[in-house]
Amino acid sequence: MKNILVTGGAGFIGANFVHYWLNKYDSDKVIVLDALTYAGNLANLEPVQGNSNFVFVQGDICDQELVEKLIQEHGIDTVVHFAAESHVDRSITGPDAFIETNILGTYSLIKAVKKCWIDEPKERGDDIIEHRFHHVSTDEVYGTLSPTDPAFKEDTAYAPNSPYSASKAASDHLVRAYHHTYGLNVTTSNCSNNYGPYHFPEKLIPLVITNILHNKSLPIYGNGMQIRDWLYVEDHAYGIDLVLNKGRVGENYNIGGNNEWANINIVKEVCKLVENEFANSTELSARFPEALAAINSDTESLITYVKDRPGHDRRYAIDATKTRDELGYEPKESFETGISKTVAWYLNNESWWQAVMDGSYQDWVEKQYS
Ligand code: NAD
Ligand code: DAU
Repeated sequence: MKNILVTGGAGFIGANFVHYWLNKYDSDKVIVLDALTYAGNLANLEPVQGNSNFVFVQGDICDQELVEKLIQEHGIDTVVHFAAESHVDRSITGPDAFIETNILGTYSLIKAVKKCWIDEPKERGDDIIEHRFHHVSTDEVYGTLSPTDPAFKEDTAYAPNSPYSASKAASDHLVRAYHHTYGLNVTTSNCSNNYGPYHFPEKLIPLVITNILHNKSLPIYGNGMQIRDWLYVEDHAYGIDLVLNKGRVGENYNIGGNNEWANINIVKEVCKLVENEFANSTELSARFPEALAAINSDTESLITYVKDRPGHDRRYAIDATKTRDELGYEPKESFETGISKTVAWYLNNESWWQAVMDGSYQDWVEKQYS
């Protein structure tokens, strides 16, 4: 039985992880600590709100005192650290928040866990507490690949190219150093692009789905030939589960989907799937009348090539051989089923995305795409 502190549990992946965990391990206690930034949303946790093993705390990972209090109060023995500023484009227009949360926030968090799990027991003459700090990182820390380069492995040298990936790389190094210097039991996972329910609509896949429904253009940065490796979000939660339960302390594990797509092709695929859903349902036509003009002629006509992202990484690809061989990890969801479920989820959860596309989201869209 674990008492887990999940930071950033009201965000996209954190919330999916909480659903996964409470569903699978129904005796574990899950405490979510989330600052509820623009990307955090209590509605993402609505399915677990009635669960007596679930507690939500609104707060900042930079608040060391609060984190220490939560660790003591709930007997936390495991931290799964998702909280971060996560959008590359926002890191280009405003890097400060990324330095604050991703670097200083992670630093504050590991200081708190070291104090509670190692220093205080030692001072009392007790054994150090059996613990695990799992750090959720990204494939972006490895930099960029050409179309023919071999995929990133765990020992690929770090070469982050955006303020976002640089801030994640810095936090990865701090976590590693706290293991080597102070004996903190850490693991880190470096995952590729996730997709699925509760994905904030500033990111490519949900942006495309919601823009189609509003008959808005589908912005493709540059020539659209950049490649990402897409993984269904529940398979990320499954990967972290295996790392927590079977992974070796002090190790990094790559998690990927073996599923590389050029941006332009994935956008065309989403257009096709939305068209199919409308073809099979008269109810959708009644609910989204704005979308019909494009869908009834050619949804791809909404595709618009726009100015490229500065420093845009050409390709990410994950070699997850180590995670497969050591932990037995394979994604469970095929891309075909995962992307169909995702499109269907957005079509069936209009109230969720309408609520998040409010004032501050509109300000972002205006600033980024006008
Ligand atoms: P997200 O932006 O959807 O959610 C981030 C969450 O962190 C939000 O709920 C936000 O309120 C919270 N948060 C931000 N600053 C905080 C602070 N100072 N204190 C407490 N909470 C704070 O992000 P996501 O896409 O769910 O990503 C989660 C983690 O996974 C991040 O660490 C990200 O780097 C990593 N990751 C993401 C992907 C991806 O494809 N989205 C892939 C690999 C790794
Ligand atoms: O690789 C893992 C990373 O994946 C995570 O660490 C990040 O937190 C997550 O946001 C994601 O980063 P990307 O930059 O790859 O995701 P995004 O959805 O923003 O963009 C995917 C690709 O689509 C990227 O090549 C940029 C392009 N794109 C994106 C947007 C928002 C467009 O062409 N047009 C757009 O409007």
